[in-house]
Amino acid sequence: MSPRELASVADLGGTEFRHEPVLLHQVADWLALPDGGVFVDFTVGGGGHLARIAEISSPETELYGCDRDEAALAATRSRFDKISNSSTDSDSQLKELFHAPFAGCVSLLRMRNIDRIHGALFDLGVSSMQIDTPSRGFSFQADAPLDMRMDTTQAAGAAHLLNSATAGELTKIIFDYGEERRAKRVAQALVNARQERPLETTGQVRRALERELGSPNLTKTLARVFQALRIAVNDELGQLSEALPQVADMLAPGARMGIISYHSLEDRIVKRFFASRIGACVCPPRTPVCVCGARADLRILTKKPVTPNQKEISANPRSRSGKLRVAEKLSVDFRPGESA
Ligand SMILES: C[S@@+](CC[C@H](N)C(=O)[O-])C[C@H]1O[C@@H](n2cnc3c(N)ncnc32)[C@H](O)[C@@H]1O
Repeated sequence: MSPRELASVADLGGTEFRHEPVLLHQVADWLALPDGGVFVDFTVGGGGHLARIAEISSPETELYGCDRDEAALAATRSRFDKISNSSTDSDSQLKELFHAPFAGCVSLLRMRNIDRIHGALFDLGVSSMQIDTPSRGFSFQADAPLDMRMDTTQAAGAAHLLNSATAGELTKIIFDYGEERRAKRVAQALVNARQERPLETTGQVRRALERELGSPNLTKTLARVFQALRIAVNDELGQLSEALPQVADMLAPGARMGIISYHSLEDRIVKRFFASRIGACVCPPRTPVCVCGARADLRILTKKPVTPNQKEISANPRSRSGKLRVAEKLSVDFRPGESA
């Protein structure tokens, strides 16, 4: 297996966790810790990025990984076990893996008296393992239960949402999170279908939309509807908005945080967050007094987002929408109006 293939496959007790880390080398080049410190991967997945960070950081670096998906954590554990078995360095750099959402991970770090971190990564969205496991219900390519929970211990999945939300709520989810112009029609088609029989499978959703909208552009609409449901089931945007300031607050002076987003909704949150922390006010126009808490304690290192090149996109088409943005913590923190 080539090094690239090795980075994409982690063994999961007989089954393989396949996920090709996006912008692998660029992420490591921006975020590795040559002088050691604490690095936290908040979306550790199968550990592809984290393993590369480990490889080029100082051996003293302490690594922590976080994920809402227990299968992902098992894959990372197995990847690092293999690395430490094949290395003469018996003391693994991987200190702990947390089964928690972003904010829970921040609390767990603080409970271990880790209040300062030196590098952080968010590689947002879902892994290929999650999309390609039909029983997880993330894909409309297979007929499977409507689940879509990243954390399979979470109570309610997509079926509950689809069968309990009002037509208005579904329209809003599909419009806001899927950016689907025909959201109202799509929501009504789903409500009509569930009146005949509760929606339980991805195939039922596909057939309901096919009946209402016909075949042209169906795949694009399904992709947008599935993205919307996934974002809602996992509160993806809420989690991101909550976590970014918490993680930035933990960065030591000179430490970096990198975020790979895969759609405009995520990227907008990242851009607005960075803007609010370089001192730019992001209050809505005509707000009389700044209430957004803009302060300057970060410096943006990527003026334009780093994106995959054509070679990476050809090898891994799922990387095509990836955008990496990196910021660095300043050593002095000032608010607009104060002198720096
Ligand atoms: C794109 S994958 C990361 C892949 C990883 N970089 C690798 O190299 O294997 C995103 C991962 O983040 C996790 N995730 C997404 N949102 C999360 C959240 N709010 N809290 C914790 N984990 C989350 C998903 O379960 C998934 O495993």
